[in-house]
Amino acid sequence: MRTLLESIEAPAHWGGAPAFAERFRFISPLLPPLDEVLEDFRAAYDAGVITNAACVRRFEEQSAAYLGARDCVGVSSCTSGLTLVMRALELAGEVIVPSFTFFATAHAIRWNGLTPVLADCDRETWNIDPADVERKITARTSAIVAVHMYGNPANVDALSNLARKHNLKLIFDAAHAFGSQRLGLPVGQFGDAEVFSLSPTKLLVAGEGGLVATADRDLARAVRLMRNYGDDGSYDPQFLGQNARLGEFNAALGLHGLPLVNKKVQRRNQIARMYVDGLTGLPGVTFQKVEAGNRSTYKDFSIHVDGSLFGCTRDQLAQALLTENIETKKYFYPPLHKQTLYRQFDRTALPNTNYVADNVLSLPIYETLPDSTIACIIDSIKRIQGFVAHRSFEANAKS
Ligand SMILES: Cc1ncc(COP(=O)(O)O)c(C=O)c1O
Repeated sequence: MRTLLESIEAPAHWGGAPAFAERFRFISPLLPPLDEVLEDFRAAYDAGVITNAACVRRFEEQSAAYLGARDCVGVSSCTSGLTLVMRALELAGEVIVPSFTFFATAHAIRWNGLTPVLADCDRETWNIDPADVERKITARTSAIVAVHMYGNPANVDALSNLARKHNLKLIFDAAHAFGSQRLGLPVGQFGDAEVFSLSPTKLLVAGEGGLVATADRDLARAVRLMRNYGDDGSYDPQFLGQNARLGEFNAALGLHGLPLVNKKVQRRNQIARMYVDGLTGLPGVTFQKVEAGNRSTYKDFSIHVDGSLFGCTRDQLAQALLTENIETKKYFYPPLHKQTLYRQFDRTALPNTNYVADNVLSLPIYETLPDSTIACIIDSIKRIQGFVAHRSFEANAKS
């Protein structure tokens, strides 16, 4: 009689056939028809005004309408947008930021000569933990920068209350969150400003680009000037700006990407549901919690792998999946407090950040991935778990 182990078809790591004959892309942006984009860009091209002009203005207006934001300012990237917003708000001293984020969030703080104070994340939502933020507020704190991780809206209410109570600015790094909703309201309406990324891994793609959404007219005006060296045309800048303009072609891409966003969010939520349904109950696997009533874009979908229950570590699972031709990412490992540029700011224990960042594994998620591919990824993870539950990861591994 065949043992249970023998009845499980060997994963590729142990000599079986890979789940996919070839490696497929981890990310593949769904872009609008090029003809439509070119139609708008052609007007800019023919007029010889190819940066920061009519397409940018229309894109800003339509984005503001989508987000329900008073103002949107197009910039060259989310990183430049965050940097300019912090400068325009004249922040000083310390800025509280989650350690579990992409380093660009913190780069913007350091480019302003400010000190990042690293806060822990919540163990379930993986967003910045307001209780830890409050513990870290000092007389030198001027702002909180929160991140909507993977598009999962941060705890806006608690953070807004803290900012109000302690007279701090509140900025959201909304790089992942164009299309997210907090209790039915689009992300883009919260804090002093929310800053989006339009790079190709996001749902709204402009090639490169960013958007600053704000209800603060003075802030919008300042960022609008600061993306253009701070100059208002007088050649006597009142603000220390940069060249952080958005090009017309990028804006045209964004304009025609806007109508695609809701469908993308819908499809990504479908895929996320397939992953959750397919992997729930697998030993050691848990998921990011999206609070009831909120909508995540699922810019990324990550599982949390507790190696002691799963049977192998997150890194070993990633290795075994790669042998199946399934690429994964570790968004975002290492966390800031373990990176060369930020280690010096590692001042307090960040147990939840370590718990999440050390064990998180991002699986492929984009609109054009068919259900059959998702089902096959789920099946591969299950098969690997079934195998490592009965033998060590190293045993007879395919070299
Ligand atoms: C959380 C976060 N913030 C900021 C950025 C930077 O965005 P950009 O490449 O548009 O500057 C990214 C990029 O993916 C990000 O993930």
